[in-house]
Amino acid sequence: MYELRNIKYKDILTIDHLQLEEGKVSCITGKSGTGKSSLLKLLNSIYVPDSGEITYYGSPLSEIDPIKLRREAVMLAQAPLIFPGTIEENLQAGLKFAEKELASAQELHQVIERMELSKDLGENAEELSGGEKQRIALARVLLMRARVYLLDEPTSGLDENTEIKVLRSFIDESRKNKSTVLMITHSIAAAETFADREISLDT
Ligand SMILES: Nc1ncnc2c1ncn2[C@@H]1O[C@H](COP(=O)(O)OP(=O)(O)OP(=O)(O)O)[C@@H](O)[C@H]1O
Ligand SMILES: [Mg+2]
Repeated sequence: MYELRNIKYKDILTIDHLQLEEGKVSCITGKSGTGKSSLLKLLNSIYVPDSGEITYYGSPLSEIDPIKLRREAVMLAQAPLIFPGTIEENLQAGLKFAEKELASAQELHQVIERMELSKDLGENAEELSGGEKQRIALARVLLMRARVYLLDEPTSGLDENTEIKVLRSFIDESRKNKSTVLMITHSIAAAETFADREISLDT
């Protein structure tokens, strides 16, 4: 679905060829500073390559409206985005911005449970711990039922046990919906457990 050819981005990334398969879970690993986050930003048209071509389902990214692209290929940024307001408002925010139908109360409770959170929907999201905020951001993205999930270290703030549980729920759900997942992780356990394919950016 995504294909990259002869990509160069500043001095940061050089990728001769990379193809991502639909419906698969790929994990990107590599040392800090190797360009993992930059790669996701290229795939989401936040960055534009200096040379080479990226195609998405056969169309060059340069010909796809970035807003449309980002509604299908939803990115979770490395620093979790939390808006002022309640947990519920934070969970609904992605759907609201995308002008999609909001999640039902049942879906909200279910996603909270899947993310191993024991919090009420009315609580202030800004007062949550770092790891809890990360899971709210991940839940918000999961609710969007995206065709592609681009996840930048979604569980870096969690203990390994919680990390594996949360990712298992996320990936079970995304596989059910036949979504494609591209996830950056420093967790060897997560990559070994969930990746159909590992992509290392270390040279
Ligand atoms: N827009 C930019 N302009 C200039 N340099 C940038 C830009 N974005 C990233 N960089 C640099 O590119 C390198 C790779 O950054 P990137 O965030 O992609 O790394 P990373 O592999 O995600 O690292 P980490 O594991 O620490 O998150 C870094 O040295 C960073 O300073
Ligand atoms: Mg990064």
